[in-house]
Amino acid sequence: MEFSCKAFKVGKCEGQKVVDGETMPLVLQPPEPNKGDMDSLLFAVKENKEWFEQMIIKNSAVLLRGYNVNNAQDFNEILESFGWDDVRYFGPAPRKHVYKRVWTANEGPLSDSIYYHHEMVLIKESPGKVILFCEIPALEGGQTPFVPSFRVTEMMLKEFPKVMEEMEEKRLKYTLTALSKNDKPSMRGRGWEDVFGTSDPAEAERRAKALGMDMEWLPNGSVKAILGPASLTKVFDGRKGRRTWFNTLVGMHGKEHSSAMMADGTEIPENVVKRCEEIVEEESIQFEWEKGDVLFFDNFALLHGRRPALPPRRVLVATCK
Ligand SMILES: [Fe+2]
Repeated sequence: MEFSCKAFKVGKCEGQKVVDGETMPLVLQPPEPNKGDMDSLLFAVKENKEWFEQMIIKNSAVLLRGYNVNNAQDFNEILESFGWDDVRYFGPAPRKHVYKRVWTANEGPLSDSIYYHHEMVLIKESPGKVILFCEIPALEGGQTPFVPSFRVTEMMLKEFPKVMEEMEEKRLKYTLTALSKNDKPSMRGRGWEDVFGTSDPAEAERRAKALGMDMEWLPNGSVKAILGPASLTKVFDGRKGRRTWFNTLVGMHGKEHSSAMMADGTEIPENVVKRCEEIVEEESIQFEWEKGDVLFFDNFALLHGRRPALPPRRVLVATCK
């Protein structure tokens, strides 16, 4: 594979790291100052689709910077020119449709952070790519930190080989309680009616089953979704045999509305979860958003999250195969 391409110039950004020989994110810029317009970008993308896609897999994160990408329509045109199939979002985050393939990333309060996750990690068909566009950078904060997931697995194996073996063997089980109707505005504030797109409990249950969840209705009208057994790590094709930390153990363990345990009911030791949370933070990478940035994540390689922000901030998202 050729690692350079005349249509893009490799740049730098503050905060990028070299992990296992790969720069993350790989910054791609116009090859010349007058090649930053949308037409030049779309032409460069169309001519180098395969190369670009290989770079996303090789470097896990690719940041397009220095182009005149102004709004959701421009962002959508970039997505269209790659031609990847869309994966419809399913999950607890409140999102608004903006334009064609483009959605707001999360309508929850900007003052909250969003914990690291692989997009739609608990759904059978999770997207291969998460693509973000910065329309308005935050006044302060609002970064989208990300973590090479295989590093978390490596560190956990080193520090907790026994528990890791047990979790791999028994696999994991999660519960998530969704309230009825939309709760107060929060990250996970969507009611089950909204999540499943129906107010008929029987239909919601059918849809949940299709996604591999069991439902337990609670007296107050809320519902507990039980997911699993789910694997702790996964190896995806073409990712150098790396073991991705493809689970949501830290995000769901011991929370008000969620839990994570081994599938046979064995508790995961508190110190293991706590240390895992530290490892995730230690391994994280973050850069400052600039207006017009378009960021491509390999969702099978990276966890991502969001730092709290001072408004205004508008980052839009698309999820693709
Ligand atoms: Fe996300």
